[in-house]
Amino acid sequence: MKHDAILVLDFGGQYCNLIARRIREHKVYSEIVPCDITPEEIKELNMNVKGLILSGGPWSVYEKDAPKFGSRILEMCIPVLGLCYGHQMIAYFSNGKVKPGTKKEYGIAQVTVDKPVGVLKELDRREKVWMSHGDTVYELPEDYEMLAFTGSCPIAAFRHKTKQIYGLQWHPEVVHTENGMKMLRNFIFEVCKCEANWRPESLIDKAVTEIRETVGEGTAIIGLSGGIDSSVATFMAAKALGERLLAIYVDHGFMRLGETEYVESTFKKHGINVVAIHAQERFLKRLEGVVDPEEKRKIIGEEFIRVFEEAAKKISADYLIQGTIYPDRIESGFRKHSETIKTHHNVGGLPEEIAFKAIIEPLRDLYKDEVRAVAKIMGLPDELVRRQPFPGPGLAVRIIGELTIEKTELVRKADKIVADEIEKSGLGDCLWQYFAVLTETKSTGVKGDSRAYGYTVAVRIVESKEAMTAGFARIPYDVLERISTKITNELPQVTRVVYDITHKPPATIEWE
Ligand code: XMP
Repeated sequence: MKHDAILVLDFGGQYCNLIARRIREHKVYSEIVPCDITPEEIKELNMNVKGLILSGGPWSVYEKDAPKFGSRILEMCIPVLGLCYGHQMIAYFSNGKVKPGTKKEYGIAQVTVDKPVGVLKELDRREKVWMSHGDTVYELPEDYEMLAFTGSCPIAAFRHKTKQIYGLQWHPEVVHTENGMKMLRNFIFEVCKCEANWRPESLIDKAVTEIRETVGEGTAIIGLSGGIDSSVATFMAAKALGERLLAIYVDHGFMRLGETEYVESTFKKHGINVVAIHAQERFLKRLEGVVDPEEKRKIIGEEFIRVFEEAAKKISADYLIQGTIYPDRIESGFRKHSETIKTHHNVGGLPEEIAFKAIIEPLRDLYKDEVRAVAKIMGLPDELVRRQPFPGPGLAVRIIGELTIEKTELVRKADKIVADEIEKSGLGDCLWQYFAVLTETKSTGVKGDSRAYGYTVAVRIVESKEAMTAGFARIPYDVLERISTKITNELPQVTRVVYDITHKPPATIEWE
């Protein structure tokens, strides 16, 4: 069955993936596509495309290399909503007048809704919205009408008089726009008439069939890290291939305490072929002297593949299955007009030449919380479903600077203390991640009666829905105190523990 879908045309805006995410929260499928997608390409997608959203972007419509959309999409009889740069682009393409920005307007603005219709249906006359723009639309062509304005923005919202084309200068997808969700709901259901019938689990059968058809009579291996993504992908692949799947867990030396034993026993218990490869020395040797985070990620990514290739050769496996999810691809720079934030080792970290017929990524279109929903439906053990995410490069990206065995042991033990204390306090289920980071900063302390000069451990605890944005968690002081006391008591090399109080953005969740 084809689901209704709304495509987000990507002009590189920082909130682009939030738009797709917000739409999916309304049980309507949404995907990010290149901004210059053509009507023919849209028709070829196996979806009931009911609406298009043109995202924001860091451009002025007057810049020479500013990305453009193919104006033929406005003739497709599919509703279109332009946001920020998308709003300016529609006006510019339709021969309206756009004033090049001399300075950026950034922050919360009060907008006056003149006509509460379509996307703005049932909104108040005064609405609080999040603006972030340079150019401004100040005159519309005949066939368009203004719907809302602000003091500095005479046409903050518009619509076409006869076609379903809308523009909003602001960002409804950002939480600071008070009624942003209502505006998006209006577009999805009132304007596009979508049916709310998409569920993440709709992808299970499709993914299982895809794995079966691609692998045919062959065999495959899957990289299993024990995190939720690779665990779900492993259960799916096992459902598709049974005995013809070998899950390979690589202990690169940067795993959590007791992880190897946990993964091996959990998956064996469920009848899945799993083998643990102990490759600590080999990884550490390649990482000797490396301090740059992106380089660490690339080396670990490449070494992973080499280990996999060797294991695959032994059992003549032709296919590699990975638990890559949608945000991994987004943040690793698969979008043409946006920046790479960090190279997730299993996407951008892959070497160019690999000895597999194909790489299969059954979860590639899902966000993390959707993966958890799929995990529940597939009947994965509850403790696996509730586990915190763990990055592929593991503790290596939680040790700032050069990696050594001593530092790894320290952060591993500190991580266990943080996890134990949080779980004991009963806060675990409300948190996205909680872990320790070994910083490069050394500081003075007193241990017993003597001066000590030791490591500083940072504790990172965040709340999030899908890891694209996150907030530091307001953990009770007594829990933080227990964590800090235990770390400094049990790890003599640590003289100071600090709590990270930065949201994402501007920080990322992991320190590297
Ligand atoms: P950041 O640090 O980018 O992390 O805010 C977002 C989420 O992704 C996890 N993460 C990774 N997961 N491979 C993975 O499989 C990676 O290279 C990687 N780097 C970060 C991180 O733990 C958080 O949940």
